[in-house]
Amino acid sequence: MRKPVIAGNWKMNKTKLESIKLVTELRNLIPRTTGVDIIIAPPFTALTYVFEAISGSSVTLAAQNCHWEDSGAYTGEVSPPMLKDLGCSYVILGHSERRQYFGETDSTVNKKLKSVLRSDLIPIMCVGESLEERRQEKTFSVVEGQMKKGLAGLTSADFSEIIIAYEPIWAIGTGETATPAQAQEVHQLIRKILGELFGKNKAVQTRIQYGGSVKPENIDELMAQEDIDGALVGGASLEARTFAKIINFKPGD
Ligand code: PGA
Repeated sequence: MRKPVIAGNWKMNKTKLESIKLVTELRNLIPRTTGVDIIIAPPFTALTYVFEAISGSSVTLAAQNCHWEDSGAYTGEVSPPMLKDLGCSYVILGHSERRQYFGETDSTVNKKLKSVLRSDLIPIMCVGESLEERRQEKTFSVVEGQMKKGLAGLTSADFSEIIIAYEPIWAIGTGETATPAQAQEVHQLIRKILGELFGKNKAVQTRIQYGGSVKPENIDELMAQEDIDGALVGGASLEARTFAKIINFKPGD
C-alpha cells in the first residue's frame, strides 16, 4: 500500500516569525506519529527556522525550487546540496507558477530532477494542463508530454523515490477543484506512463498527489480515489487548523 503524502506549499508567504508560529501551531494539532507523510515547503528564507521548529515531530521539509548545478556562478540560485544541508528531504519541481512566470520548461525540470536525485533528495514533480488545453481535450497529451520530458533519461535503477503532483492549472488558487473523477482519470494515466517508463513495480509504488484548491471539504473524496495518494496544498496550508484537518482526512474503505 502507498502511504498517503500531504504537502503544504507556502509559495511566497510567511516571514521568519510567521513561519515559526504557523509550524508550531501545526505540530500541536497533529499526532506525533501518523499514517501520513507530512511535508511543509516554506520559502527558502524560512527553511532553517522551520527545520528547527519541526524537530521531533512527524513533519518533514521541502524546498519549492532549486538549481540543477551543485555550485557555481549562478547569482540568486540555490542548489540541492545546499537544501540538503538545511534539512530538506524533498524539492518541488516544475510547479505551474514557475513554468508560467519564471521560464521553467520540461527540460529544466529534467535537469533539476536529476540533480535533486544525485543529492539524495526526493523530487515532487508537478504536471498539469491549462484550462484552454482541457477545453481542447489535450489534457492527456499535455500531461504525457510533461511526464516523458521531465523524466527523460532516467531508468528505474536511478531512483528509489519520485513523487508526482498532478495540478490542473485551472484549479490552482481558484477555488475550483477537479472532480474526484476528473483527477482520478489523469492519475491513472500518470501511473500508466510510470509503468511504461519504469516498469510495473515502480508504477505501483510511486505516490501521485493531487493539487488545486484542496481543502478540508474535498480531501476525503479525493483521497478515496484509487490512484490519488496525497495532496499538494497551497492556500489551505497557510492556516494551521485548516491544514491539520486536511492531514487528518478520513480514509475511505
Ligand atoms: P492551491 O495551490 O491549493 O492554493 O490551489 C496548490 C498549488 O499550487 O500547489
